[in-house]
Amino acid sequence: MPTKIEKDSVTGTDTTGHEWDGVRELNTPLPTWWVYTFYATIVWAIAYYIVYPAWPGLSGYTKGIWSYSQRVEVEADIAQARAAQKGYRDRVGALSTDDIRKDPDLLAFALAGGRAAFADNCVPCHAVAGAGRIGYPSLADDDWLWGGTLAEIQRTIEVGARSGHAETRVSDMPRFGADGMLTGPQIDDLAEFVLQLSGRGDAAMAASAERGRPLYAENCAACHGDSGEGKPDVGAPRLNDQIWLYGGDKQSIVASINAARAGVMPAWAGRLDVETIKMLTVYVHSLGGGR
Ligand code: HEC
Ligand code: HEC
Repeated sequence: MPTKIEKDSVTGTDTTGHEWDGVRELNTPLPTWWVYTFYATIVWAIAYYIVYPAWPGLSGYTKGIWSYSQRVEVEADIAQARAAQKGYRDRVGALSTDDIRKDPDLLAFALAGGRAAFADNCVPCHAVAGAGRIGYPSLADDDWLWGGTLAEIQRTIEVGARSGHAETRVSDMPRFGADGMLTGPQIDDLAEFVLQLSGRGDAAMAASAERGRPLYAENCAACHGDSGEGKPDVGAPRLNDQIWLYGGDKQSIVASINAARAGVMPAWAGRLDVETIKMLTVYVHSLGGGR
């Protein structure tokens, strides 16, 4: 095979000298702009190795002549943010939640801190913005199990409900069906009566609801109130509205009466600091239903 480098007559460029069946290969040079860019990237890379942290070693890495470290920068940022917040946090710690709400600056700080802490700790159960879901009460309405004042909300967050905390809020609805206190038909009648309390009684079931009335007075009114208005001091939900923690259809109501629910709200005292609990309180109170 001939390996003669010649000038190509059409392009004026040298050939490589390779030839296959009469087809010769052009040795077109790389564009100059490309070559210089390529050299520039090499220079850039070498400069980068020298200036910035680059090569890993067995114990550590080359630090670079600027000793740049993102970790150090972040730590400095955090320290700065802490210092800037310290005055606010100290005041949140010292003041009552009532007084925090009266100071617009402090209120804005507490709401922002409360929102962040809520997203970290509470959203898995209470949903975004405290909207709630089956089994986990909405914190954004004015229907409260344990009371919606700042003090009551703070207490609930601190000690939880059925939480195992020494002072937990606790109230145990009996398991009327599961423990044989009422019969199936009685529970059915009670469920009809509860539906009637919330204005959804079926006329065809009026007789059943009437049989439920005395059963309700005897077994339920002590906690849920004579007309189903609920009692915050025993954490018993209102039954005469359209807000249901465990579902308001007949089947769900029967299930609630049959085996009770005993939802658990964890205690946060000890897990979150006092300032964070106060900020959460102010935040939850602001969601729409605070009293
Ligand atoms: C593991 C799930 C869970 C988590 C996490 C949780 N909660 Fe709860 N929370 C509940 C349940 C269940 C109840 C209802 C308790 C009951 O039946 O008495 C409740 C009730 C409440 C109540 C009382 C509502 C009322 O109507 O009186 C408040 C206030 C509250 N939670 C705030 C919070 C805050 C603030 C956080 C985050 C720090 C939080 N919860 C995290 C499950 C949870
Ligand atoms: C000792 C107090 C107590 C008594 C007595 C009691 N309850 Fe309850 N009830 C509660 C509490 C507390 C809850 C909150 C749910 C939970 O977490 O256990 C509840 C929840 C319910 C619910 C679910 C409400 C919802 O929003 O989903 C229904 C329905 C209900 N009770 C009906 C009854 C009926 C009917 C009786 C009488 C047969 C009764 N309860 C007796 C305390 C009581």
